[in-house]
Amino acid sequence: MSVHTEIKKVTTSVLRKMKTQGEKISMLTSYDFSMASIVDKAGIDVILVGDSAANVMAGYPTTLLITLDQMIYHAQCVVRAVSRAHVVVDMPFGYYESSEADAVRSAARIMKESGADSLKIEGGEEVLPCIQKIINAGIPVMGHLGLMPQSVNQYGSYALRANNESEAKKLIEDAKKLEAAGCYALVLEKIPAELAKKVTESISIPTIGIGAGGATDGQVLVVHDMLGINKGFTPKFLRRYANLADEMTEAIQHYISDVQSGDFPNENEQY
Ligand code: KIV
Repeated sequence: MSVHTEIKKVTTSVLRKMKTQGEKISMLTSYDFSMASIVDKAGIDVILVGDSAANVMAGYPTTLLITLDQMIYHAQCVVRAVSRAHVVVDMPFGYYESSEADAVRSAARIMKESGADSLKIEGGEEVLPCIQKIINAGIPVMGHLGLMPQSVNQYGSYALRANNESEAKKLIEDAKKLEAAGCYALVLEKIPAELAKKVTESISIPTIGIGAGGATDGQVLVVHDMLGINKGFTPKFLRRYANLADEMTEAIQHYISDVQSGDFPNENEQY
């Protein structure tokens, strides 16, 4: 039987075992109880309480605007819904970069107040001391390299990253450093597929790709994007598995017309 089928709760060691056995890891975002409940029951391996909540839930233009308290709130809602999936929470921008003490304090708050299983932190060598301190405190960390949305102002766009030799070399070195620091997995966002393959083969921890090709050990998407709830985001790497925005609009219009015509509620829908 596969690891995916036999496991009751997905832990970091389960994810490592899946890589060893060549089983692909599935990961999706969730930010609230209802969605997390559906995603978990569907059998996903990892649920990411992403700081993409800033865009998807709050309508902010970038992920930089979400606060630690808001991330903790989203994480609490998700954790209450999940029994099988591993729940990983994004460390938001501005709460870990300035000092190791700040990093451990913020990390401990997320873990203690939400009951999540681990954290995801954007960055390589530059934030390694902070990541190391958090891991030393007993908190599992998933790294995140390539396109790092929290650094968008530095680059000025969400374009493909590590598309030249020196950036690709740094990314591979960063991946090895994150593994050596004790990260249990690594997200690779929007980098050339060939580079993602090379990273995946160079480290023993699982890689989870988004816009990074098919050779990574797993895949992650924003659930609202893949379900077609958010129709405005159409990158090449996104596959849509449903068109829920259209279905929801149709259902809501149907309801409006039923209310207007007096068809709703009928005799069976009242006391
Ligand atoms: O916040 C997020 O949703 C993410 C994924 C895109 C990996 O970091």
